[in-house]
Amino acid sequence: MTRRKLAAGNWKMNGLNADLTELEGLPSVSRAEVLICPPATLIERMARKTSSVSVGGQDCHPARSGAHTGDVSARMLADAGATHVILGHSERRQDHGETDALVRSKIKAAWNADLRAILCIGETEGQYKAGETLEVLRGQLAGSLPDGTSPDNLIVAYEPVWAIGTGLVPTMAEIRDVHAFLRAELTARFGADTGDGIRLLYGGSVKPGNAAEIFAVPDVDGALVGGASLKADDFGEIIKALE
Ligand code: G3P
Repeated sequence: MTRRKLAAGNWKMNGLNADLTELEGLPSVSRAEVLICPPATLIERMARKTSSVSVGGQDCHPARSGAHTGDVSARMLADAGATHVILGHSERRQDHGETDALVRSKIKAAWNADLRAILCIGETEGQYKAGETLEVLRGQLAGSLPDGTSPDNLIVAYEPVWAIGTGLVPTMAEIRDVHAFLRAELTARFGADTGDGIRLLYGGSVKPGNAAEIFAVPDVDGALVGGASLKADDFGEIIKALE
């Protein structure tokens, strides 16, 4: 099965209207897909400004609507022009105590709004050092993926927590082994067609200098990029490495 390569940028809590000019500096791509997930305040304007870059949210509430001050629903993201939403990012898990069960309900909410979910999973430094990586990932996948998962509605991003924003990156052999494991887990649960079709992104200190090496790893279908997605020059280099 052919999986379209994806360069996804997660702007996190960064970006004002003036930063939308970064879009103009991105290279045009023919084969890869490019996605940016800006803060919710910028989704609508970003979506209006570009047709070559897909736009996504960084989180959504599991409910369709209601009394949830400060939250944003999946339908609101879609209404603003988003096509994707990042769910279960480790910063959400850390800052807001998000559990796999909550992430699962958010994925369902995303699907109900016709959004494609990008599920983030990853082990902490302590779990990595204790050799628990695969066990942790297995639990996160099992706990957060609903039945009905398909290549059309889900992307998985492997983001080791200790690699996020630190400049640290696992070895290429570690990334290869983890991605092969994730592929096998998805295939075991959802069958060969679905397991083969779901895109697996790597995230955690992806930069212009290491992108090509990471993209050459089997079963790496692209990247979820934080800091280096904020500037068109850096993100553009990463996009080119994917093409
Ligand atoms: O979601 C992307 C992310 O957590 C990685 O961040 O800054 O290490 O690329 P960064």
